Amino acid sequence: MAKTRNVLGVLVLAAVAAAAPPTAQALELLAPDAECSLATGHLVVIGKDAKPPAGQGSLEWSGGTATLSAWLGRFSGVADLSAGPQEAKILFGGETLSLRLVVAPEVPGNLYTYHPKVLTEECAACHDPNDPPGPGSNVAKACYGCHTPYTARSSVHTPVAQGLCSACHDPHGSRNAAFLRWKPEVVCTACHNRPITKDHEKVKDDALCSECHDPHGSNRRSHLKRR
Ligand code: HEC
Ligand code: HEC
Ligand code: HEC
Ligand code: HEC
Ligand code: HEC
Repeated sequence: MAKTRNVLGVLVLAAVAAAAPPTAQALELLAPDAECSLATGHLVVIGKDAKPPAGQGSLEWSGGTATLSAWLGRFSGVADLSAGPQEAKILFGGETLSLRLVVAPEVPGNLYTYHPKVLTEECAACHDPNDPPGPGSNVAKACYGCHTPYTARSSVHTPVAQGLCSACHDPHGSRNAAFLRWKPEVVCTACHNRPITKDHEKVKDDALCSECHDPHGSNRRSHLKRR
């Protein structure tokens, strides 16, 4: 897993670099993406601030203004946007974060889909909204309340066994299928090198790993789907 450590090293360096300039953006948007399309006008913003301010923030769009609930540097708020291109602004802790959204169904490639429980603002279905888990937490218990556990399989993929669902999924939503953090072609290579063993001689460069491997695990060795 040397590749994993390298990736983490790069991320740490990137985080340090990002914190260095005085103009650094401390607001981090967790949902939705800053530029995306939404199938309905119901906007749910979730984010956090590396430098938590005192007081409240607001969400502004052409149709109105809403107060952001803010707690311990985290914030969330909702707006109902009308159809078409929409600009919205998050104002929090003296900082501004601009959103460029398009409310229209089926915009290819850029459609952001919320996890259904986020869209209905049932935050507590997954975690205490006042005390959400941070990155790298074991969150499987919350997910298995509704999704069938993968742990009964004889060969469970290590990050799944560790409950690190958000290593691959963005639990609040994403622009990729199955709320994946990345396009399916690169989800596996975030941690693995493209395989070079003889077992993989016949794997085409553009083959999806999940054509053969189940990303969560299976009852066969190497989490293979069949054989
Ligand atoms: C489908 C499950 C799910 C729902 C529903 C959900 N969350 Fe989360 N949330 C998570 C998980 C899992 C994490 C941990 C993220 C990670 O590992 O990066 C998280 C993390 C967060 C964080 C970041 C915490 C931190 O310190 O990094 C905030 C803020 C947050 N959620 C707010 C909300 C709000 C507000 C709602 C409702 C509008 C909500 N969440 C609904 C699963 C959910
Ligand atoms: C309160 C019930 C509930 C909880 C808790 C929950 N989900 Fe879901 N999830 C749903 C529903 C309902 C859907 C939409 C129907 C479906 O595809 O199963 C869904 C859909 C999904 C999908 C997309 C499925 C697909 O076929 O595209 C993923 C991925 C997912 N959830 C991951 C998670 C993760 C990760 C967690 C824990 C952080 C979680 N869910 C917690 C109810 C829940
Ligand atoms: C190593 C990456 C990875 C991890 C970790 C992971 N998933 Fe997935 N998940 C995927 C991929 C990729 C898909 C897309 C389905 C496919 O390609 O077969 C998926 C699909 C899903 C789906 C859609 C239905 C299905 O079973 O295919 C649900 C629900 C889901 N994951 C929940 C979870 C939960 C809950 C966890 C944590 C216990 C988790 N995932 C951890 C990669 C991952
Ligand atoms: C968050 C990091 C991470 C991601 C993303 C990830 N893996 Fe893994 N994977 C691991 C770890 C950790 C192990 C266990 C150590 C090892 O064997 O390298 C592992 C092991 C494996 C194994 C070896 C199983 C065995 O025992 O023979 C396979 C196969 C595998 N992963 C496939 C995948 C596929 C397919 C994807 C994409 C859907 C994926 N991995 C994404 C971390 C990850
Ligand atoms: C055409 C089917 C196929 C595809 C596509 C495929 N694999 Fe495999 N993979 C296998 C087979 C077969 C094995 C061998 C299992 C054994 O002999 O134990 C294996 C074994 C592995 C192993 C464990 C042994 C090793 O070489 O370290 C890992 C890790 C792995 N694959 C990762 C991946 C990743 C990552 C991708 C996508 C880039 C991928 N595989 C794509 C069929 C495939």
